[in-house]
Amino acid sequence: MADSPSSDAEGPRHVALIMDGNGRWAKARGLPRALGHRAGVEALKRTVQAAPELGLTCLTVFGFSTENWRRPAAEVSELMGLVRNYVESDLDRLEREGVRLRIPGRREGLPDDIRAIVERAEARTAHNDRFLLQVAFNYGSRADIVDAARRFALSGEDPAILTEDRFERLLSTSDAPPVDLVVRTSGERRLSNFLMWEAAYAELLFQDVLWPDYGPDALAKAVEAFRTRERRFGGLEPTRQAG
Ligand code: FPP
Repeated sequence: MADSPSSDAEGPRHVALIMDGNGRWAKARGLPRALGHRAGVEALKRTVQAAPELGLTCLTVFGFSTENWRRPAAEVSELMGLVRNYVESDLDRLEREGVRLRIPGRREGLPDDIRAIVERAEARTAHNDRFLLQVAFNYGSRADIVDAARRFALSGEDPAILTEDRFERLLSTSDAPPVDLVVRTSGERRLSNFLMWEAAYAELLFQDVLWPDYGPDALAKAVEAFRTRERRFGGLEPTRQAG
């Protein structure tokens, strides 16, 4: 039965988070939006810390979308500053704790210093395999699929033998296991161009919590909600994986 909870059902390994509601959190407190984003970084840190204890091996978060460039310049600059600070302040700890950091998304268009910071962070943590943290930045699923198609065209491989598996390896999220659960916070119910290929068989969950209030308890609730879902990947029987 789709809704019967079962505590020994498997939990998600890979959770993807659309961290929404920073602006509303700030507005409710009479604060500038920038402070909502800063509180959002603290929520991200708490959530990353709790994820392995809840059985996850991978977390993907939507840090900045290809559409976020439409925001006022000051807000764009604030978000750039936050990713810079986050990587610089947390890299040592993440490396020590066995976290591999990946930054899916388009590198073109990012300020040179951020590009350098994310490339260094990826290189420094490339050997880690305890946990994969993907911070999608300047990311949009359609752009990523187009970029993958471009890479394939440039590879000189025969299109007649292109498979889904091969194509998937050209996406900027290719190091991650399948997405089990996509969570969007703040009550909005959209995918907003996030992981549209990768989340083809993911469960979707919309949590009524503004992102800066997120943390271990909310993630634990998401994991519990996932356990109640029955996944069939297009077949008739419940199963763990597509195929
Ligand atoms: C949505 O809230 C959130 C974002 C556009 C950015 C998410 C960024 C963070 C949580 C900061 C940390 C990021 C990194 C990469 C370290 P919103 O501004 O759309 O909120 P609103 O819908 O309430 O206005």
